[in-house]
Amino acid sequence: MRKTLKVDLKLKNKLDEKIYNFFTIISEVALKLKMKAYAVGGMVRDLIMDIPIKDIDIVIEGNAIEFAKEFSTIVGGKLIAHNEFKTASVIINGEKIDFATARQEYYDEISSGLPHVEESSLKLDLYRRDFTINTLAISLNENFGELIDYFGGVKDIKDKKIRILHNLSFIEDPTRVFRALRFAEKFNFLLGQQTEKLMKNALELGVLNTVSKNRLFLEFSLVLKEEKVVEILKKINDYKIFKYLHKEFYIDENCFNLINTGKDFVKMCTFFCPIEFRIEAIYFSILKFCFRKKFNLTNILGIVDSKIEKIYSQMIQINVFLSKRRKKSEIYFFLKPMALEAQIAAFAISKSNYVKEALISYIRDLQFIKPLVSGKDLITLGFKPSAIFGKILNDCFEKQIEGEFTSKQEAIDYIKNKYLN
Ligand code: CTP
Repeated sequence: MRKTLKVDLKLKNKLDEKIYNFFTIISEVALKLKMKAYAVGGMVRDLIMDIPIKDIDIVIEGNAIEFAKEFSTIVGGKLIAHNEFKTASVIINGEKIDFATARQEYYDEISSGLPHVEESSLKLDLYRRDFTINTLAISLNENFGELIDYFGGVKDIKDKKIRILHNLSFIEDPTRVFRALRFAEKFNFLLGQQTEKLMKNALELGVLNTVSKNRLFLEFSLVLKEEKVVEILKKINDYKIFKYLHKEFYIDENCFNLINTGKDFVKMCTFFCPIEFRIEAIYFSILKFCFRKKFNLTNILGIVDSKIEKIYSQMIQINVFLSKRRKKSEIYFFLKPMALEAQIAAFAISKSNYVKEALISYIRDLQFIKPLVSGKDLITLGFKPSAIFGKILNDCFEKQIEGEFTSKQEAIDYIKNKYLN
């Protein structure tokens, strides 16, 4: 039987108005197309735990592509359909809603063996998921807003437990080992006793050897994106799981310290320059640096993202460049084309105060300096546009960065003296 809970989710208060409106539209589409729609997964878990929700995942009992098409027509969104997976995404003003087709039918063991088409495809869909806390659903049908909890997810959230749904869960999908440790640290939960036992058994059986390095590193990169990255890495280390990423891979205290230093610097950078960056690339570069003498991760990381290779190499270049004292303008021109991720990683791995000070000064101040003089100013001064423009502007900007003049007038006087006499 479907277990619905009269939990007041306060959907209207907790959800962003825009998302709430999408849910009401989804509900209308469900009625019109005679399908059933449910919000599922991490979003429901986060809603119950009162933490900000990220992705919106909708499971459809029916054809999700047809459903998403109708929804996107109403909201004026962009539809991306994946026919082979029977899934679709709708993008509306940068917001993404994923629609997936639930299993068509579900055979209840204690019933006559007839499929419970009406309500059970959702249950089967949820049963195939990793942990009970991720199996909650919210109905977007007649019983709009009702919480559906087949597998005790709410109790496990209250008890702060990570529990798998069946004994073969880690065998079926060994990457869940990473997920279990990630969720446990992220939410400050414990692994259920049986879950931990089955996880250890699966590890002893070597299940992680059966997964491609690509998949393992993708799952691992989710760990690196977490706020509690160091705590999770320590757990992965405790369970001796790093060796599956590479046979010699291990992390020592020094490496944890470098990652912590990187993490602190990330906070400062986010404060001074709130731009998007790939946080996992920073930690990948630091990890690679820690093991560079033992082995080369190039190929494996290349699978995850070639950007990591670029960042790693820039990180090393920055440290080499700053191993000598440099003028402010040299620092500016050298760091300008470098990725912020590389600058942060370079800070983390360096033991030199000079390197750290130079990077702080660039991120706090230097990077924001704008030239006082432009090409237009040169034309006003009577210069004819030519190759010399670049030379003059560069020369002038360099002096400005060195603090030799602070006002535009001083810069113009400098140009007049040097280039117009
Ligand atoms: N899932 C699973 N096994 C996996 C990966 C995912 O069962 N190896 C299921 C989970 O139940 C999850 C859903 O697929 O709820 C969506 O996956 P994902 O977006 O990775 O998980 P979230 O729970 O949304 O986690 P996060 O907060 O990290 O985004």
